[in-house]
Amino acid sequence: MGSGSGGTYMNRVKAREASGVIVVGAGLIGLACAWELAGTGAKVTVVEREEPGCGATRVAAGMLAPIGELDFGEPELLELNLRSRRLYPDFVATLEAATGLDTGYRHTGALHVALDRDEAGELRRIMELQHSYGLDPKWLGPMAARELEAGISPSLAGAVLVEEDAVVDPRALTAALRAGLEDRGVRIVTGEVTGLVRDPAGKVTGTETTRGRFDADLVVAAPGAFAGIANWLPDEIRPPVRPVKGQTVELRGDVDEPVCERILGSERVYIAPRPDGRVILGATSEEMGFDTRVTGGGVHELLREAYRLLPDVAEMEFVGAIAGLRPGTPDNLPLIGPTAIEGLILATGHYRNGILLAPLTAKAVGELAVGGEPEWLLASSPARFEHQEAR
Ligand code: GLY
Repeated sequence: MGSGSGGTYMNRVKAREASGVIVVGAGLIGLACAWELAGTGAKVTVVEREEPGCGATRVAAGMLAPIGELDFGEPELLELNLRSRRLYPDFVATLEAATGLDTGYRHTGALHVALDRDEAGELRRIMELQHSYGLDPKWLGPMAARELEAGISPSLAGAVLVEEDAVVDPRALTAALRAGLEDRGVRIVTGEVTGLVRDPAGKVTGTETTRGRFDADLVVAAPGAFAGIANWLPDEIRPPVRPVKGQTVELRGDVDEPVCERILGSERVYIAPRPDGRVILGATSEEMGFDTRVTGGGVHELLREAYRLLPDVAEMEFVGAIAGLRPGTPDNLPLIGPTAIEGLILATGHYRNGILLAPLTAKAVGELAVGGEPEWLLASSPARFEHQEAR
């Protein structure tokens, strides 16, 4: 893994003028990249085939929980996640100051609850893993946990408090980014990319789209779960991204008496609070191809498990349920970096961490676009999956 047998990706993007960038895809990743690039003075056009933020972004709960979501030993992913979480406060503060819009970012912390002895054993294992990475989650007995969150099930066996975790509202963040991009002169075009335009040396000079040709020095491909079937990406660099379906449920409660203060999680569900009293319950994880149907079974599972964890959800208004597609990769690491095609950067494959990794991805793409070589990005290099003939 790492930089892959294609050598380091460094030097594969040459320093270029900060102008003429096309970002393909207006999910949170594409929008955040466009925001960063436009902030450096680049002339940015975003091409999106549907409504911006209408894919996985719209469905996501917005947990910024690199520690709480750490289940297995994935040190490279953890490092990226922690880096990005550190960027979040500044990222949203800059955006909120520029637009006057609330992104729903709140540093709430998270409480992971074990509902029986078996779950307590598993939660202790995860906490030990977290400690082995130098992190500092705290074990709480049932009484201490219920002092923090009075509504959680009285029959809990223990809990882990992660004070660093935070939450953002991905839809509010999308709205703020759209407003910010407009201020920075970024055009969002509704259309589909049909091909890359390249010069005789193979360097990218633009894209063909259903809305005509757009010239550019640099193309940033952020097609999310569709990356693996994006035919406009040449075979040799098209990444092995697969869709992983997730369903979430939205419930509305009283803003003055929120059912919980922080992110709550159990083995089978998480509950992310919104500043206006709503909560998002998430999420199923299903290998179902491009199926985005909301199912009775999915909704039932989320409601049942949320009720076990926080019985007060039974009193909340059911707003709706939706499904989206996470862009999964074979090693669960994202694909952020240059490709073997000069002038083409990938920013996809964020799997369960797209919302969390948005500021880091944007920062990385901003640095790459001007010839930077961020060492910390090596683990996510697309070169690890490129076919031999691409090099
Ligand atoms: N990050 C949570 C999820 O993908 O379900």
